This record gives sequence, C-alpha cells and structure tokens, in this order.
Amino acid sequence: MLKALNNVETEGLRAITDAKDAEALEAWRIAYIGPKGKIRAVMPMMKDVPADQKAAVGKRLNEVKSSLEAAFEAMGSKPGASASVNPGPMLDMTEPGVIDSKVLGRRHIIPRVRDELVEIFARLGFEVAQGPELEDDEHNFVKLNIPPAHPARDPIDNFYVDDPAEADKPRMLRSQTSTVQIRTMERMLAEGGTPPVKIVSPGRVYRPDTVDATHSFMFHQIEGLYIDRGVSMSDLKSTLLQFAHAYFGEDAEIRLRPSFFPFTEPSAEFDMMIALKPDEPAQWVELGGCGMVDPNVLSACGLDPEEWTGFAFGFGIERIAMGKYGIPDIRMLYENDVRFLQRV
Ligand code: DAH
Repeated sequence: MLKALNNVETEGLRAITDAKDAEALEAWRIAYIGPKGKIRAVMPMMKDVPADQKAAVGKRLNEVKSSLEAAFEAMGSKPGASASVNPGPMLDMTEPGVIDSKVLGRRHIIPRVRDELVEIFARLGFEVAQGPELEDDEHNFVKLNIPPAHPARDPIDNFYVDDPAEADKPRMLRSQTSTVQIRTMERMLAEGGTPPVKIVSPGRVYRPDTVDATHSFMFHQIEGLYIDRGVSMSDLKSTLLQFAHAYFGEDAEIRLRPSFFPFTEPSAEFDMMIALKPDEPAQWVELGGCGMVDPNVLSACGLDPEEWTGFAFGFGIERIAMGKYGIPDIRMLYENDVRFLQRV
C-alpha cells in the first residue's frame, strides 16, 4: 500500500503541473482527490495492512492526501485559474484601500434641492425660518384655523404623541410646515417686532400614509409666508411665476386652481407643467397649495387683519425634485440605491 501511495503522490504532483487551465485542473481534482479519485481507490488496501503497521500507513495516507490537496490549492490561486475552481482573487483585508475619486459620495438630492429652493427664494427677499418637528395641535391646527371637528385632525391621519382625547395641547409630529407661519409671527411679536415678515421654511413633515409611488410617511415641504401692508393675490402669483422661471427655466408654465385650505382665503392649488418621466410629454403636476392668509390666522397670532395682509404657500420638496430630475417614484429617494444616487 505504501508503494501505491508513493506512486499516486509522485504521479499526482507531476500531472498537476501539466494542468494549464481551469478545466484541466478540475479534471485533475476529480482524478486524484475527488470522491472517486486515486487516493480513495488506494484506501480499501488498508484492510490488508498488518495491524502493527496500520498507524504508520494511515499517517502516510493523510500526508499524501494533504500534499495533493495543497498542490491543488496552490495551482487554483494562480492567475489564469477560473473562479469555478477558486472563487475570486485572494483578498488581503489589511491592505489599504484604493481611493477612486470618481466614486466619492455627495449630498443627497433632497437637501440639494432644498438649498436650491432656499437660494431662489432668498433672491426674492425671503429669509429662512425654522420650527420644531415635534409640534402641538395648537400650532399644527388650532391657530391655523383648523377647527376641532375638522377631518384633518383625525388621529388616523396624524402621528400624535399624546392622546388628543386627553391632553390639553396634544403633541404630534407636524403634518405640515404651515406650523412655522404661526411660530414666526408669534416670535416676531414676542420680540416686539412688526411685519413685514418674509420667510420660507423647509423641513420634514409626517403623515401615516401608505407608501407608494407618490406617498411616504415622511416627506419634505417648503413653506412661504409674506405679510405686509397691501399684499395681494397678484403678489403671490408673480412670486410663484418668478420662482418657476428661476428653477425650471423661462418656458415653465404655472397654473393656480381655486381650492380650499382653512388657513387661506382665497386658496389655490399650484400646478406646474412638468415631464415626470424623461421621455414622456409634460403634464400638469400639483406642487402644493397657496393663498391669502386667512384673517383668523392673523388674529390668532395677534396681528390686526385690518392693517396687515399676506400670502402663504406650501410645496412638496419631493414633488419638485421629482419634476426637476425626472424621478418617477418617491421611494427611489429613500432606498439609497447607489446606482440611483449617482445618476441624480
Ligand atoms: N399645508 C398645506 C398641506 O400640507 C399646504 C399649503 C396650502 C400651505 C396652502 C400653505 C397654503 O401655506 O397657503 O397640504
């Protein structure tokens, strides 16, 4: 048996040097170390080995097996051997990485669009104002002229943090950035200021909507508010038109459709002609709402509606980003698929 083992070893080590490609190497593996290979074929001879030699012969059997397997491993890792024999190149995880400047990360499209919008409104004289995401129903609803029984206040449609049936001013994740209109007017009066107020406020809002191509439980809005003496609907429309031209180009078309919001009177829906998919014709896309600030809202904040008037607007930032960059599905913005992130 020792002789047979020596022969298999010598023959195997010689034969493997002739295996020039992956196929030949695989054939060698089957012939020598596979389950029906030559090593296995020698094993039954073990039963004829005298008992006092079994240990030594067994040791030699393992040596030959190991040396053939090692030879196979070594050949398999050489260049030219295919992945089917040796899966992939040997990786040294301790080597320093190669930095490819072409794939450096960059800012996500949402904060980029947010800053672009803020920049445009800044040119039109709007300052940035902020308000908390954890709000209370006084700022999200009451002072925005949304009465207690209004369907928008339904717990099903809002992320309440306190039970609205029990708490005095139940806290909630804000469902709209219109809260910042109230916060801004309150702050100004508390600091002894008076209008004009001219602010935009970008930020996150939350609604328990079922996620689909156009809905998400969290999204971004940008709110606008301008209060002064003698502000009119035509100021609103010209502001929106200037914004549309600045952001979408001189050909951009806008449309105001009569609508209803509790905090504006009159109210309108703001649409723009946009191609949502790169190869499709442009269509009217609703970007948000707008209108003249309702006198009740001004009074609730302590401003005399006989003296001051104003306009307000609130747009979906995702909608604008999707229109500007031809993104067909809102979910793409949150999936963090690198192929998408690199494209937009
Ligand atoms: N807050 C409204 C919403 O989330 C959008 C909106 C409509 C904001 C009209 C406004 C406005 O400021 O005047 O649906």
